[in-house]
Amino acid sequence: MRIGVSLPANLLGRFDEIIAQRGYSSRSEGIRDAIRSYIVDYEWMSREEGEKVGVITLIYDHHKRGLGNTLTDLQHKFLKLIESSLHVHIDHENCMEVVLVKGDAKDVKILVEKIMALKGVKHVKLTITSLGEGL
Ligand code: NI
Repeated sequence: MRIGVSLPANLLGRFDEIIAQRGYSSRSEGIRDAIRSYIVDYEWMSREEGEKVGVITLIYDHHKRGLGNTLTDLQHKFLKLIESSLHVHIDHENCMEVVLVKGDAKDVKILVEKIMALKGVKHVKLTITSLGEGL
């Protein structure tokens, strides 16, 4: 199937550089791989269950109106899950937030998905560790 997608020029430019370096034969092949990787990541997160500790790292657009407040509101809603958070002003454009979570993997997933879906959030990375027996 063919699809049309709108992207910021700098994002597409960087993507094209990377697929050239990696030796992809076409942009389409690079995009197919990126989508597969996105799906694998989602399925991994969906399979996780039980009590976990984790770190959510996010980078977002400092200039996006209301986004800082939205992220704070979201963290207040997930009060029981969040142990701590750290805000770093990376540069003029970008903020980084590191959120330490502890709780049920399903709740962590819900929080991560809510963050990912916000406009102006550029990158979200979740790292989790089990709290099970045997550690
Ligand atoms: Ni900041």
